[in-house]
Amino acid sequence: MTSLGVSVEDQAGVRRVVLDRPDKRNALTIAMYAAMADAIASAAADDVGALLIAARGDTFTAGNDLRDFLEQPPHGDDAPVSRFLTGLVTTDVPIVAAVRGAAVGIGTTMLLHCDVVLASPTAKFKVPFVDLGLVPEAGSSVLLARRIGRARAGAALYLGETIGADQACADGLVTKLVADDVLDAEAEAAARAIAAKPRQAVRETKRLVNHDRDAILAAMAREGTAFRARLASDEARTAMSAFFTRGARG
Ligand code: COA
Repeated sequence: MTSLGVSVEDQAGVRRVVLDRPDKRNALTIAMYAAMADAIASAAADDVGALLIAARGDTFTAGNDLRDFLEQPPHGDDAPVSRFLTGLVTTDVPIVAAVRGAAVGIGTTMLLHCDVVLASPTAKFKVPFVDLGLVPEAGSSVLLARRIGRARAGAALYLGETIGADQACADGLVTKLVADDVLDAEAEAAARAIAAKPRQAVRETKRLVNHDRDAILAAMAREGTAFRARLASDEARTAMSAFFTRGARG
């Protein structure tokens, strides 16, 4: 089923969730978050063995739609973006991601919740929250430093440095790099392989790996409060508006 920028399809125990708004570099709208949140929240009950998050086009995602941030900023825990992030943290269904091109903002931070991340050599990762007058989200204030080390997380968060594909692999942000032309097939194969394994053992394993999910949800709650306040700030509104006048590209 394709609706409003995301297609969701179940096959062979795998639920493929594909970002499908390539003309806007798969920038994530409220409707897209809602579709992804629903797909993740219902996966376990629908007996899905693995979720696969992929994207159409040359960009994984340019992150949150900045026009939505300006015009319809998220408010509470029931906002689609909040439901999406909570689903990522709480689902017991393993998540495989396939990344080509830029993964900006939540495009990078969502990967911190994925279990297998395959990326093409074109992949690049950027978390320019501070440059936009914002703060990290999706638990990344805790998880990014934990994953890649505080010094490298510092360069990404404060300097806004882009992490290239090789570095991301060396840092453990990515499971492995695969050639661009086989990325989708390899990601599908990985998801199918997980889906074919003993279902309850897989889910119990994910619960054990995610034993600290309450701490991550608490980090997300702290971030959410700060993020919403930042969205309303002059700093953020000026920086985000500048993107649409071509001032904030790169
Ligand atoms: N929100 C809304 N629209 C976005 C967007 C975003 N996050 N990212 C890209 N777009 C739109 C552009 O406005 C443009 O629309 P137009 O064709 O109507 O002018 C279209 O997508 C293409 O974007 P463009 O910047 O020309 O593509 P690019 O290939 O040169 O660059 C990116 C790709 C991802 C590097 C660049 O678009 C970018 O930096 N986007 C913003 C990333 C960001 O700051 N995200 C928020 C993180 S919290």
